[in-house]
Amino acid sequence: MKSSHIFASGALALVIGTGAVLADPIRDAIDARQAQFTLFAYNIGPLVQMAQGDIDYDSEIAQRSADNLAALTHTHQDRHWPEGSDNASVDNTRALPSIWEDAEDFASKFADLRAATAAFQEAAGQDLASLQGALGPVGNACAACHDANRAEE
Ligand code: HEC
Repeated sequence: MKSSHIFASGALALVIGTGAVLADPIRDAIDARQAQFTLFAYNIGPLVQMAQGDIDYDSEIAQRSADNLAALTHTHQDRHWPEGSDNASVDNTRALPSIWEDAEDFASKFADLRAATAAFQEAAGQDLASLQGALGPVGNACAACHDANRAEE
């Protein structure tokens, strides 16, 4: 390895923290996917509040939140779900073994969310009625996967 490469990787380790380089790969994957779902929940929050009339409809916030939801569904998921990271194997995860038992179904449920957020992206910024009409399928896509693959708290 050239010394400039060694320097670059050493500098990066400093930036992201040596812990992130040395930590347990299963734990890292669980942390990453839980952080991803936190972003989903954070972005859907104001959309649900607008739909329910808890806060005023704001077309710009609605559109940006919808854009973020859609963008999040385009992250590659393979490294987030390593074998052995289910809740029967390790603590502090609610991921059920069903995810690995039927990986195709899990992938298709993630794809359903991608499709629902794409449709929602077209509607959310138009007006409140359009947002309300298109939010249901997004929520259903979240719930369908949770019902099948996420343990109760
Ligand atoms: C394809 C399956 C799937 C879809 C779709 C899905 N989730 Fe999840 N979600 C999971 C699984 C599995 C977990 C548990 C992850 C873990 O604990 O390792 C989870 C966990 C969560 C958590 C808890 C995160 C934490 O910190 O422990 C939240 C919040 C969440 N999801 C919100 C959402 C929202 C909002 C949507 C829809 C916009 C959504 N999820 C769509 C499978 C899914």
